[in-house]
Amino acid sequence: MKPLERIAFLRKELSKHNHAYYVNDAPVISDFEFDQLLSELQELEIHHPDLFDKNSPTQRVGGEVLDGFTAVKHNYRMLSLGNTYSPKDLHDFDVRINKLTDDNFEYVCELKYDGISISLTYENGELIQALTRGDGTQGDDVTANVKTIKSIPLKLKGDYPEKFEIRGEIFLPIAGLVQMNEIRIEQGLEPYANPRNTASGSLKLLDTKEVAKRPLDCYLYYLLGNNLPSNTHFDNLQKAKEWGFKIPSEIERHKTINDVLIFIEKWDAKRHDLPYEIDGIVIKVNDINLQEEMGFTAKSPRWAISYKFKAEQVSTILEEITYQVGRTGAITPVANLLPVQLAGTTVKRASLHNADQIEKLDIREGDKVFVEKGGEIIPKVVGVELKARDLFSQPTRYITHCPSCSTELVRKEGDVKHYCLNAESCPPQIKGKFEHFISRKAMNIDGLGGETIDLLIQEGLISEISDLYLLEKEDVLPLERIAEKSAENLILGLKASKNIPFERVLFGLGIRYVGETVAKVLAKHFKTIDAIITADMETMIAVDEIGDKIAESVILYFSQQKNIDLITALKNSGLQFVSKVEDTSKSEHLKGMRIVVSGVFNIFSRNELKKMIEEHGGKNVGSISKSTTFVLAGENMGPSKKEKAESLGVNIVNEDEFLAKIS
Ligand code: IVH
Repeated sequence: MKPLERIAFLRKELSKHNHAYYVNDAPVISDFEFDQLLSELQELEIHHPDLFDKNSPTQRVGGEVLDGFTAVKHNYRMLSLGNTYSPKDLHDFDVRINKLTDDNFEYVCELKYDGISISLTYENGELIQALTRGDGTQGDDVTANVKTIKSIPLKLKGDYPEKFEIRGEIFLPIAGLVQMNEIRIEQGLEPYANPRNTASGSLKLLDTKEVAKRPLDCYLYYLLGNNLPSNTHFDNLQKAKEWGFKIPSEIERHKTINDVLIFIEKWDAKRHDLPYEIDGIVIKVNDINLQEEMGFTAKSPRWAISYKFKAEQVSTILEEITYQVGRTGAITPVANLLPVQLAGTTVKRASLHNADQIEKLDIREGDKVFVEKGGEIIPKVVGVELKARDLFSQPTRYITHCPSCSTELVRKEGDVKHYCLNAESCPPQIKGKFEHFISRKAMNIDGLGGETIDLLIQEGLISEISDLYLLEKEDVLPLERIAEKSAENLILGLKASKNIPFERVLFGLGIRYVGETVAKVLAKHFKTIDAIITADMETMIAVDEIGDKIAESVILYFSQQKNIDLITALKNSGLQFVSKVEDTSKSEHLKGMRIVVSGVFNIFSRNELKKMIEEHGGKNVGSISKSTTFVLAGENMGPSKKEKAESLGVNIVNEDEFLAKIS
């Protein structure tokens, strides 16, 4: 197949699989197979810049760094919807419409997604522009960011109009927020509070590569243009689905306002089961001719209305503010509440986030507070009933010392949280370290839980992770509540964990910023713990996905003797410190050499060459320095790199010379 044909084939295949995965939720091939097709296309596109296509599936990974967003005027104003909060309002709406028409008409009921509205323009089946709502008349051009959202088609299929707009909502599924927060917590950062604001913030990031990492999604609910396929709203959306858009399947047509109310009740009850947040129901007139007849007020269409669910808020008494110490020493203030029913669960505790939050809301013990479970996953205190406040109440004084070990807390510039730095002997930090180590995603140790860890620490049987592997059945049997069988299970669980692969052991160590993904990247790249321990800053940041912050943290961790001793002890106990990925080394021709690859090559791709360097014992480094052995240069290597190599006396080697070296 000629490159031109192969490129066209791959682009089609990849869009098909994107659609299967992100729109239909029914992937046909594995992630691995997808990645392989994608990298093949990336390679081909690098070699055939003349075949560039701004809507190729490769463009979804981002890469462009924007210096801002341009304001663009909307072709059709982006209006909002009138709100109602009661069945009575809805009946009034129904009466108004009935006065305007004699015909039988239908309503379309849809969920009201709590995200950011977006307007997409397509021309000849290609996405050409994505605008935010802005002030309704003009919005920001966020096309580059929107292209990274996999459920938004870049190219359409079927019989679409030549030019049209389609509007919808970009949102972050709850699972997406949880996933992002796991990483944030891992990095010692404050977790994002709600999906809506996080989605909104994501869409306004300037680094498109960062946007691509956010698991954003998009439902479309409104088609606009001159040549729409049908004169009903419902059928237009079904057509748009055929063109490749993600159209909600929850939408329903109803003939009477009473049926609309049944739809509303159904979703008010079920809304917490949805994988994303909704804040109400949107009711639209289905017939587009009738819509046009009814027209708009200054702010909103007369043919549609939104029914907002009641904000789920209750008031209760804040009995006590306590403080939690996390594994990293971060302090989180917690509101202990008089138990209250909220959104189907009993709430006893709510997060107060940090000192600033307490000060901002002037929250005090004994206050009557309002607790809300809106977009947030954990309920939060949103305000205080000042009138109900006790006359003698005093402002909250944030703690200055660790509630557990009494060490003075520090709050570094730029941090939102206070920290206890006594990692060595602060009990919750020690316990947190163990809990992290034994957790499912790390060593997954059967037969060992938080309570047993507590007991073992109390009895002085463990103080470092490595002590776990020195335990014997006889040590744990005398402990309270540990029967023969549990003791056996614990020892067996520990033994079994010795086969847990290196990357999970590395994750289990709890090095700051080394979450699951980073641990995998490090293990895959360096293969052994020794290689990680000896890696310097330069080698570390040359690894894809490893930035300064992670590199510094890893280097700091292994610069401490106690951590080296820990690794030695764990090694002696037989844990995995070598990656099991098969050995692909082919020779040692490049042993000890530090090589920079730059430019475009004829025979092999840049990635293939980098792989070869490693297979023959060399190291890929990112930038040219005195310690670089040589630069493997292809065509159009940047002039500044060339100059730098020459001034430092670093050899420049071409592809043929390189291949000769390793043969
Ligand atoms: S239709 C002219 N349908 O709600 C009417 N809007 O308060 C266009 N929204 O700005 C909007 N779900 O961001 C429509 N199913 C839905 C919606 C929806 C959420 C948002 C949208 C709009 C806001 C209006």
